[in-house]
Amino acid sequence: MHIESLWVNRVRALREVEIEPTVGLNALVGPNASGKTSLLEAIWLLTRVRSFITPRIQEVIQHGAERLEISARISTREAREVRVGLEKGVNHTRIRYNGANLKTASDLSSRFPVNVLTPESHQILSGTPKNRRRWLDWGTFHMEPAFIPVWQEYCLAMRQRNNLLRRGGGPAEFSVWEETMQVKAERINPWRQAFLQALDENLPPVCEKIGLSEPVRLRLVPGWDGEQPLSLALEQRRQADQELGYTLQGPHRADVAFLAEGGRPAARYFSRGQQKLLLIALALVQCRARGEESVLLIDDLQAELDQAHLRLVLQALVSEGIQAFVSSTDHIFPDGAVFHVEQGRFCAVQGVTR
Ligand SMILES: Nc1ncnc2c1ncn2[C@@H]1O[C@H](COP(=O)(O)OP(=O)(O)OP(=O)(O)O)[C@@H](O)[C@H]1O
Ligand SMILES: [Mg+2]
Repeated sequence: MHIESLWVNRVRALREVEIEPTVGLNALVGPNASGKTSLLEAIWLLTRVRSFITPRIQEVIQHGAERLEISARISTREAREVRVGLEKGVNHTRIRYNGANLKTASDLSSRFPVNVLTPESHQILSGTPKNRRRWLDWGTFHMEPAFIPVWQEYCLAMRQRNNLLRRGGGPAEFSVWEETMQVKAERINPWRQAFLQALDENLPPVCEKIGLSEPVRLRLVPGWDGEQPLSLALEQRRQADQELGYTLQGPHRADVAFLAEGGRPAARYFSRGQQKLLLIALALVQCRARGEESVLLIDDLQAELDQAHLRLVLQALVSEGIQAFVSSTDHIFPDGAVFHVEQGRFCAVQGVTR
């Protein structure tokens, strides 16, 4: 997909901003507090209906305003020039798709895949398993949209089992929910595996392109001893889980291992710059790993990268042919479109040829 035009109103300090990006690299260049991150946030908001910075929408809505508005003309492989709009207040959300109302945010995010890298994205490598599961499950969902309902059914069954753990129940009652968890886990696990395997296979050439010479492997940690059926593992753990009051094993406890040479965890072995390169490589592969190409957002591109790696990353962004929006305080872009940003105003200064 790519965004052909974008209009943003009352997102933080941005007021009636309109830009016509190119289908390739779009750089937002300007001083601190000029509105670069706000524009990236607006693109994310439009497709995910939430911010990548805060869960509290009142922080994103311009001070003194009641709602924010974002609209765009987007082309995908399936449909050209789709008009998408989002209006969001503290208590209401209105999503428009070619003039009709859409009910759920996942309707939009499955149609318009967007990946984002912010300084917080390092949490995927060095944060908790929960950070990695969120990343894993969004990626899996985009490869296999059926993931979400199956995952919800799994969680429902797990909550029922947790209720039994706390209030007590007979073996037959436990078995019902444990069997359901097992059936759902048998679908969840292979989908997650397939997503990681696709990334793992496509990662090496992209890493090489952007100058990450160390090999990296991705491995799924399923959340229980994957060699045995989950229902058996759960049955064996009933008493121990009863003492804990919750279900300790299962795909809800899965994790992803990012392994550098010799099986060392990348989060502890790689430098910050290498970690950022790995995150960029993963995002680039993910953008292509789907039926529909994603738009890539990178906030503060130059942070942690030296000149040589920055050049390689820029070359890769241009040659991959995906639409990317990147922010930077300096004009470091020999190619692509550049928008100069000053006090919430965006002005095309390079490469906008439409
Ligand atoms: N709800 C809000 N209403 C109005 N202004 C806001 C709101 N939230 C944040 N701001 C302001 O918006 C401005 C733009 O912030 P933004 O994060 O987009 O800047 P930036 O260009 O990314 O800066 P940096 O280079 O420092 O990352 C900041 O001055 C910030 O204080
Ligand atoms: Mg910023």
